[in-house]
Amino acid sequence: MDTEIFLQVDNYISALLASEDVALTNTIKSLDEQGLPQHSVSANQGKFLQVMMIACNAKKVLELGTLGGYSTIWLARALPDNGKLITIEVDKHHGDVAHKNIDNAGLSHKVDLRVGKALDILPKIVEENEEPFDMIFIDADKPPYTEYFNYALQLSRPGTLIICDNVIREGKVLDENSTDEKVKGVQRLNKMLSENKKVTATILQMVGAKEYDGIAIAVVNRI
Ligand code: SAH
Ligand code: DHB
Ligand code: MG
Repeated sequence: MDTEIFLQVDNYISALLASEDVALTNTIKSLDEQGLPQHSVSANQGKFLQVMMIACNAKKVLELGTLGGYSTIWLARALPDNGKLITIEVDKHHGDVAHKNIDNAGLSHKVDLRVGKALDILPKIVEENEEPFDMIFIDADKPPYTEYFNYALQLSRPGTLIICDNVIREGKVLDENSTDEKVKGVQRLNKMLSENKKVTATILQMVGAKEYDGIAIAVVNRI
């Protein structure tokens, strides 16, 4: 199948509904300049995250995997004035690049960027006895996705949205014998979403500007 049409339609949608300003385009440029991978969400996926935030009236958001701060900027822009976003990044250099990009976007006052392993920082956030998050975006390394999801549940309330990026991986999730740790990680998560009674979940497959992939959306049930 000719996938050129998917790119053209993605561009059509983003031109209409997800145009990037200079803070966002400079963030994408900074990835190549600073040697970071081009693993940011697309513009349309950034807008999708904003729509989800407004839908759940999100004032408090948690993100795992900051990279250069591209998704962070989309998320923080959908927060109200008194809103807060905690974003966790393991790589100090990624954290430095993200810090500058978030600052350039004028969003530092809303963003609490924590550098360290998500599995070290998440228990601290649980201990801090923070108010539950309204939305949680999981986009760090793929092997521990189920562990991340269990922490996300601990930090949630009924109605919290938990969104997980890259759960289809060009369709490689279909391969039950895959030895790819990223694929195995998201397969475990997808299976868990099908079994976990605490959430109502679905997966949207996505085509367009990025690799063929998908995003899982789970809402914590109101019991
Ligand atoms: N959300 C970003 C993209 C994130 S790419 C965006 O859309 O703009 C994944 C990021 O997760 C990388 O920067 C990587 O360094 C980070 N990461 C990998 N393992 C991690 C871990 N154990 N804890 C926290 N972050 C991690
Ligand atoms: C990878 C990670 C991502 O978060 C993404 O959106 C695309 C690819 C990766 O590690 O391969
Ligand atoms: Mg991703």
